[in-house]
Amino acid sequence: MINQIIHFDHPNPSELNKALLKIVHGNLETTVAGNPGGRRTDWNLHEKGIKEIDILHDWIRELIPKAVSIAHTASEAARTVMMIDKESNVDKEVLDDSQIEIDTYPNFDQDGFKIHQSWGIYYNKGEGVELHNHFPYTFTACYYVNIPEGSAPIIMEGEELSPVAGRVVFFPGHLYHEVVPAQNHADGRCAIPSNIVYSPFIEMEEYSEIVPTLVATAQTLTSKLKELQAQISGSSDFTVLKTAVSGSLEEIKL
Ligand SMILES: [Fe+2]
Repeated sequence: MINQIIHFDHPNPSELNKALLKIVHGNLETTVAGNPGGRRTDWNLHEKGIKEIDILHDWIRELIPKAVSIAHTASEAARTVMMIDKESNVDKEVLDDSQIEIDTYPNFDQDGFKIHQSWGIYYNKGEGVELHNHFPYTFTACYYVNIPEGSAPIIMEGEELSPVAGRVVFFPGHLYHEVVPAQNHADGRCAIPSNIVYSPFIEMEEYSEIVPTLVATAQTLTSKLKELQAQISGSSDFTVLKTAVSGSLEEIKL
């Protein structure tokens, strides 16, 4: 059965991973809940304008439509199994992954997914993260930066998954997972997870409501700036300038 945990491997990750490891290691801020927990950066690694982080996220953004299409197909396949369960005379073996076609045009906006949070996480041996999920985020994309031999696995809904450097794993945000601390694990296990939201219609509605106000404000600002320019033109008197600016700000109600 097709799984909703989907992975893709970066074609050439070694140089990128070297840079990412340095970036994560240099930005570690706090400790995650664990026993003991690994260390992590802030949640907004994707907003800091760091070149290699942006390269990684551009690659992940390109993969999102494919990942959600596969996840959607997996969800539909699970529904088929449920339907077949109701009809005991149907042979479940007819369900073969090779017969399932990925729905590349599902009835939702494949481009409506956005990275909302991203952070780096770093574990030395004996460190982990307690059982948690990323609900209410739609998906999480976890990219593995550095996986030395003997690194801890991730336990996803009770299933052990071995991380691979250069691999991004997409999983639905509600799935529970953990990294169990153990002294025989390797130092330096590093990953960059990103939380992804689905928000196409919400944004459009928000924009449609505020656009008229924004346009009106911009027009007022433009005319006030012109007035201001005329008033202060040629004046070197600070009081005149101050009065003109205060008056304009009051009228615009900024
Ligand atoms: Fe997590």
